[in-house]
Amino acid sequence: MATSHIESKLEDIAPIVLMPGDPLRAKYIAENFLDNPKLINRVRNMFGYTGTYKGKRVTVFASGMGIPSIGIYSYELYKFYNVEKIIRIGSCGTYDKDIKVLDVILSTGAYCKSYFDELFDGVDIDFIQSSDSLNRSIMNTAKRDNIKLCVGKTITSDIFDVYCDDKERFRDNFPDMKFLGIEMEAFGLFYMARKLNKEAACLMTVVDSLYDKRSLSSEEREKSLDEMIKLALESII
Ligand code: HPA
Repeated sequence: MATSHIESKLEDIAPIVLMPGDPLRAKYIAENFLDNPKLINRVRNMFGYTGTYKGKRVTVFASGMGIPSIGIYSYELYKFYNVEKIIRIGSCGTYDKDIKVLDVILSTGAYCKSYFDELFDGVDIDFIQSSDSLNRSIMNTAKRDNIKLCVGKTITSDIFDVYCDDKERFRDNFPDMKFLGIEMEAFGLFYMARKLNKEAACLMTVVDSLYDKRSLSSEEREKSLDEMIKLALESII
Protein backbone atom coordinates (compact mmCIF):
# COMPACT_ATOMS: atom_id res chain seq x y z
CA MET A 1 0.00 0.00 0.00
CA ALA A 2 0.98 3.65 -0.38
CA THR A 3 -0.71 7.02 -0.03
CA SER A 4 -0.27 10.24 -1.97
CA HIS A 5 2.77 11.18 0.13
CA ILE A 6 3.93 8.00 1.91
CA GLU A 7 5.37 4.93 0.21
CA SER A 8 5.56 2.69 3.32
CA LYS A 9 3.84 -0.68 3.66
CA LEU A 10 1.11 -0.83 6.29
CA GLU A 11 3.24 -3.01 8.56
CA ASP A 12 6.24 -0.67 8.27
CA ILE A 13 4.74 1.94 10.56
CA ALA A 14 4.29 1.57 14.33
CA PRO A 15 1.13 2.74 16.16
CA ILE A 16 3.22 5.41 17.92
CA VAL A 17 5.00 8.10 15.93
CA LEU A 18 7.47 10.76 17.00
CA MET A 19 7.28 13.69 14.60
CA PRO A 20 10.07 16.25 14.22
CA GLY A 21 9.65 18.96 11.59
CA ASP A 22 13.00 18.38 9.93
CA PRO A 23 13.60 15.16 7.93
CA LEU A 24 17.30 15.17 8.91
CA ARG A 25 16.26 15.29 12.54
CA ALA A 26 14.19 12.15 11.95
CA LYS A 27 17.37 10.54 10.60
CA TYR A 28 19.38 11.80 13.60
CA ILE A 29 16.84 10.38 16.07
CA ALA A 30 16.66 7.04 14.27
CA GLU A 31 20.45 6.69 14.09
CA ASN A 32 21.18 7.84 17.65
CA PHE A 33 18.24 6.59 19.71
CA LEU A 34 16.61 3.60 17.99
CA ASP A 35 17.74 0.01 17.67
CA ASN A 36 17.59 -1.51 14.17
CA PRO A 37 16.16 1.59 12.46
CA LYS A 38 14.79 0.99 8.98
CA LEU A 39 14.13 3.78 6.49
CA ILE A 40 10.46 3.44 5.55
CA ASN A 41 9.72 6.64 3.63
CA ARG A 42 11.75 8.69 1.18
CA VAL A 43 9.01 10.40 -0.81
CA ARG A 44 9.87 14.14 -1.05
CA ASN A 45 12.78 13.37 1.31
CA MET A 46 10.25 13.42 4.17
CA PHE A 47 12.17 10.67 5.93
CA GLY A 48 10.46 8.13 8.15
CA TYR A 49 12.20 5.39 10.14
CA THR A 50 10.88 2.53 12.23
CA GLY A 51 12.92 0.85 14.93
CA THR A 52 12.71 -0.01 18.62
CA TYR A 53 13.45 1.94 21.78
CA LYS A 54 14.05 -0.29 24.81
CA GLY A 55 12.13 -3.00 22.97
CA LYS A 56 9.14 -0.79 22.02
CA ARG A 57 8.44 -0.36 18.33
CA VAL A 58 8.31 3.28 17.29
CA THR A 59 8.27 5.27 14.06
CA VAL A 60 9.98 8.63 13.66
CA PHE A 61 8.42 10.52 10.77
CA ALA A 62 9.11 14.14 9.72
CA SER A 63 6.24 16.60 9.25
CA GLY A 64 7.80 19.45 7.30
CA MET A 65 6.88 23.03 8.23
CA GLY A 66 3.46 24.58 8.76
CA ILE A 67 -0.11 23.38 9.23
CA PRO A 68 -0.63 22.24 5.61
CA SER A 69 2.38 19.91 5.71
CA ILE A 70 1.81 18.39 9.16
CA GLY A 71 -1.90 18.19 8.28
CA ILE A 72 -1.16 15.93 5.31
CA TYR A 73 1.27 13.60 7.09
CA SER A 74 -0.74 13.27 10.29
CA TYR A 75 -3.92 12.61 8.29
CA GLU A 76 -2.31 9.86 6.21
CA LEU A 77 -0.62 8.24 9.22
CA TYR A 78 -3.74 8.25 11.39
CA LYS A 79 -6.21 7.38 8.65
CA PHE A 80 -4.37 4.90 6.42
CA TYR A 81 -1.56 3.53 8.61
CA ASN A 82 -3.57 2.94 11.81
CA VAL A 83 -1.32 5.22 13.82
CA GLU A 84 -2.87 5.91 17.25
CA LYS A 85 -0.52 8.44 18.84
CA ILE A 86 1.70 11.16 17.42
CA ILE A 87 4.05 13.26 19.53
CA ARG A 88 5.44 16.29 17.72
CA ILE A 89 8.95 17.14 18.87
CA GLY A 90 9.74 20.55 17.47
CA SER A 91 11.01 24.00 18.21
CA CYS A 92 9.24 27.25 18.99
CA GLY A 93 9.59 30.88 19.89
CA THR A 94 8.32 32.69 22.99
CA TYR A 95 6.99 36.11 24.00
CA ASP A 96 7.05 35.16 27.68
CA LYS A 97 9.71 36.84 29.87
CA ASP A 98 9.80 33.88 32.26
CA ILE A 99 10.61 31.33 29.55
CA LYS A 100 14.22 31.02 28.50
CA VAL A 101 15.82 29.80 25.32
CA LEU A 102 16.28 25.99 25.48
CA ASP A 103 13.44 25.52 27.96
CA VAL A 104 11.13 22.69 26.90
CA ILE A 105 7.41 23.40 26.51
CA LEU A 106 4.58 20.85 26.58
CA SER A 107 1.56 22.28 24.76
CA THR A 108 -1.74 21.60 26.53
CA GLY A 109 -3.52 23.00 23.49
CA ALA A 110 -3.00 25.21 20.47
CA TYR A 111 -4.78 28.45 19.65
CA CYS A 112 -4.90 29.33 15.96
CA LYS A 113 -6.38 31.86 13.54
CA SER A 114 -5.93 29.72 10.45
CA TYR A 115 -8.66 29.10 7.86
CA PHE A 116 -7.70 25.40 7.78
CA ASP A 117 -10.66 24.17 9.88
CA GLU A 118 -13.20 26.03 7.75
CA LEU A 119 -11.77 24.72 4.51
CA PHE A 120 -11.53 21.17 5.82
CA ASP A 121 -14.84 20.74 7.59
CA GLY A 122 -16.76 24.02 7.42
CA VAL A 123 -16.18 24.59 11.15
CA ASP A 124 -14.71 27.49 13.11
CA ILE A 125 -12.42 26.21 15.84
CA ASP A 126 -9.93 28.51 17.57
CA PHE A 127 -8.44 26.21 20.19
CA ILE A 128 -7.79 22.46 20.36
CA GLN A 129 -6.50 20.57 23.36
CA SER A 130 -3.80 17.96 23.13
CA SER A 131 -4.24 14.45 24.59
CA ASP A 132 -4.61 14.44 28.38
CA SER A 133 -3.33 10.91 28.68
CA LEU A 134 -0.22 11.50 26.54
CA ASN A 135 0.45 14.73 28.44
CA ARG A 136 0.16 12.91 31.77
CA SER A 137 2.70 10.29 30.66
CA ILE A 138 5.07 13.03 29.48
CA MET A 139 4.70 15.05 32.70
CA ASN A 140 5.19 11.96 34.90
CA THR A 141 8.31 10.98 32.96
CA ALA A 142 9.70 14.53 33.19
CA LYS A 143 9.14 14.50 36.95
CA ARG A 144 10.77 11.10 37.35
CA ASP A 145 13.81 12.13 35.26
CA ASN A 146 14.11 15.61 36.80
CA ILE A 147 13.47 17.42 33.53
CA LYS A 148 12.10 20.95 33.75
CA LEU A 149 8.95 21.23 31.67
CA CYS A 150 6.91 24.39 31.00
CA VAL A 151 3.29 23.25 30.60
CA GLY A 152 0.61 25.42 29.02
CA LYS A 153 -1.20 26.72 25.95
CA THR A 154 0.66 27.65 22.79
CA ILE A 155 -0.09 29.44 19.55
CA THR A 156 0.14 28.01 16.06
CA SER A 157 0.80 30.71 13.47
CA ASP A 158 0.65 30.64 9.67
CA ILE A 159 3.67 32.92 9.53
CA PHE A 160 7.16 32.73 10.99
CA ASP A 161 6.60 35.68 13.30
CA VAL A 162 10.35 36.32 13.71
CA TYR A 163 10.14 37.94 10.27
CA CYS A 164 7.21 40.14 11.26
CA ASP A 165 8.23 43.83 11.24
CA ASP A 166 5.81 44.84 13.98
CA LYS A 167 5.90 42.26 16.79
CA GLU A 168 3.53 44.29 18.98
CA ARG A 169 0.90 44.28 16.26
CA PHE A 170 1.41 40.54 15.74
CA ARG A 171 1.15 39.87 19.48
CA ASP A 172 -2.11 41.88 19.61
CA ASN A 173 -3.74 39.25 17.40
CA PHE A 174 -3.88 37.09 20.52
CA PRO A 175 -5.08 39.54 23.21
CA ASP A 176 -6.77 37.25 25.75
CA MET A 177 -4.33 34.45 25.79
CA LYS A 178 -1.54 33.68 28.17
CA PHE A 179 0.54 31.47 25.92
CA LEU A 180 3.96 29.97 26.47
CA GLY A 181 5.25 29.38 22.97
CA ILE A 182 4.56 30.01 19.32
CA GLU A 183 5.19 27.66 16.43
CA MET A 184 3.58 26.65 13.14
CA GLU A 185 2.33 23.04 13.35
CA ALA A 186 0.66 21.92 16.61
CA PHE A 187 -2.87 23.06 15.67
CA GLY A 188 -2.77 21.03 12.43
CA LEU A 189 -1.72 17.92 14.34
CA PHE A 190 -4.25 18.39 17.16
CA TYR A 191 -6.96 19.05 14.57
CA MET A 192 -6.33 15.73 12.81
CA ALA A 193 -6.20 13.82 16.11
CA ARG A 194 -9.54 15.33 17.12
CA LYS A 195 -11.11 14.73 13.70
CA LEU A 196 -9.99 11.11 13.50
CA ASN A 197 -10.40 10.22 17.18
CA LYS A 198 -6.70 9.69 17.82
CA GLU A 199 -4.16 11.12 20.26
CA ALA A 200 -1.58 13.88 19.82
CA ALA A 201 0.89 15.77 21.98
CA CYS A 202 3.53 18.39 21.30
CA LEU A 203 6.89 19.03 22.94
CA MET A 204 9.01 21.99 21.83
CA THR A 205 12.42 23.38 22.59
CA VAL A 206 12.43 27.17 22.74
CA VAL A 207 14.85 28.54 20.14
CA ASP A 208 13.64 32.13 19.67
CA SER A 209 12.71 34.63 22.37
CA LEU A 210 11.70 38.26 22.30
CA TYR A 211 13.65 38.79 25.56
CA ASP A 212 16.34 36.12 25.92
CA LYS A 213 18.86 36.94 23.20
CA ARG A 214 21.74 34.68 24.30
CA SER A 215 23.55 33.07 21.41
CA LEU A 216 23.77 29.32 21.85
CA SER A 217 26.54 26.90 21.10
CA SER A 218 25.73 23.88 18.98
CA GLU A 219 26.48 21.68 22.03
CA GLU A 220 23.86 23.49 24.09
CA ARG A 221 21.31 23.12 21.32
CA GLU A 222 22.09 19.45 20.84
CA LYS A 223 21.92 18.68 24.57
CA SER A 224 18.50 20.32 24.90
CA LEU A 225 17.23 18.56 21.80
CA ASP A 226 18.50 15.19 23.02
CA GLU A 227 16.78 15.72 26.36
CA MET A 228 13.45 16.37 24.63
CA ILE A 229 13.84 13.36 22.32
CA LYS A 230 14.64 11.12 25.28
CA LEU A 231 11.68 12.49 27.23
CA ALA A 232 9.32 11.68 24.33
CA LEU A 233 10.76 8.18 23.93
CA GLU A 234 10.71 7.40 27.66
CA SER A 235 7.10 8.57 27.83
CA ILE A 236 5.86 5.99 25.35
CA ILE A 237 7.47 2.84 26.75
N1 HPA B 1 7.95 31.41 15.70
C1 HPA B 1 7.27 30.50 15.01
N2 HPA B 1 7.71 29.29 14.78
C2 HPA B 1 8.95 28.98 15.25
C3 HPA B 1 9.68 29.89 15.96
C4 HPA B 1 9.16 31.17 16.20
O1 HPA B 1 9.78 32.04 16.84
N3 HPA B 1 10.85 29.29 16.29
C5 HPA B 1 10.81 28.06 15.79
N4 HPA B 1 9.66 27.85 15.16
